[in-house]
Amino acid sequence: MAVQRTFSILKPDVTRRNLTGAVNAKIEAAGLRIVAQRRIHMTLSQAQAFYAVHKDRPFFGELVEMMTAAPVVVQVLEGENAVQAYRDVLGATNPANAAPGTIRKDFALSMGENSAHGSDSAENAAVEIGQFFAASDIVG
Ligand code: CMP
Repeated sequence: MAVQRTFSILKPDVTRRNLTGAVNAKIEAAGLRIVAQRRIHMTLSQAQAFYAVHKDRPFFGELVEMMTAAPVVVQVLEGENAVQAYRDVLGATNPANAAPGTIRKDFALSMGENSAHGSDSAENAAVEIGQFFAASDIVG
């Protein structure tokens, strides 16, 4: 598998508890390089657009509210098989089901406040990266 990029968001539960360095340490220990990173306060329209695929789900309102309640850190991660490698170190969406040592097992608070987002495919990663970064922001 070639070198690939994926998109990551460190969520408000991470920034609020001052855990961005702790999560980044796990990302780097998994062999992923942080090739772009920016701390932002996501707007309502950015959050609604980012999670548009979930707009009919019962948790959509809660999700958008949570993602805009405090700063987040948006990132581009690069490495061998980066999409799957990041999902492996993230752990299951529900932290109760996450494997030991994963980001969500160690840090997540709940299904909603689950510490970080990772793209689910290379195609979606490219779309998601484009929502927050210009090509010139990414320095590999
Ligand atoms: P994420 O990987 O960012 O993708 C969609 C997000 O929706 C997910 O992580 C969770 O934060 C949130 N989510 C998924 N399922 C639920 C749920 N049942 N209740 C609340 N939030 C959820």
